[in-house]
Amino acid sequence: MKQILLISGPNLNLLGEREPEIYGESTLDDYVQRAESAAAEHGYELIHRQYNDEGSIVEEIQLARSTYSGVIINPGALTHYGWSIHDALAAFEGPVIELHLSNPNAREPWRHTSVVAPVATGSIIGLGGYGYELAVHAMADALK
Ligand code: DQA
Repeated sequence: MKQILLISGPNLNLLGEREPEIYGESTLDDYVQRAESAAAEHGYELIHRQYNDEGSIVEEIQLARSTYSGVIINPGALTHYGWSIHDALAAFEGPVIELHLSNPNAREPWRHTSVVAPVATGSIIGLGGYGYELAVHAMADALK
């Protein structure tokens, strides 16, 4: 079965406890389950990895080059300054979907820049947990 990689960046392991007024009360596992179900609808297996450090995310994206059909990534705060993630994604040949629960453009100015957006096929932002399903549907479409 073909596989899609979902990467979660720093602090997303705290979802459910962390700033629920912004990120909701669901846990990361809840969001991952929504993505897994959507992937199964399209005949894909979704593999999820969460890291709190940039280097591990870069290594995972490098590994993805030979393993996964596409990458969905919520890089957390690294979205805004993680240039090594930008470069690693630029070297990945398949589709890349950038995903955020909140809408960073409607928040503090430092969140308005995404270094991932320029190397993403598309971005899904501000739609909460529903975005995890949408990202998988968009990925399946991009892989057709
Ligand atoms: C986030 C938005 C980022 O600005 C923030 O640092 C996060 C979560 C989101 O999903 O809304 O950790 O990526």
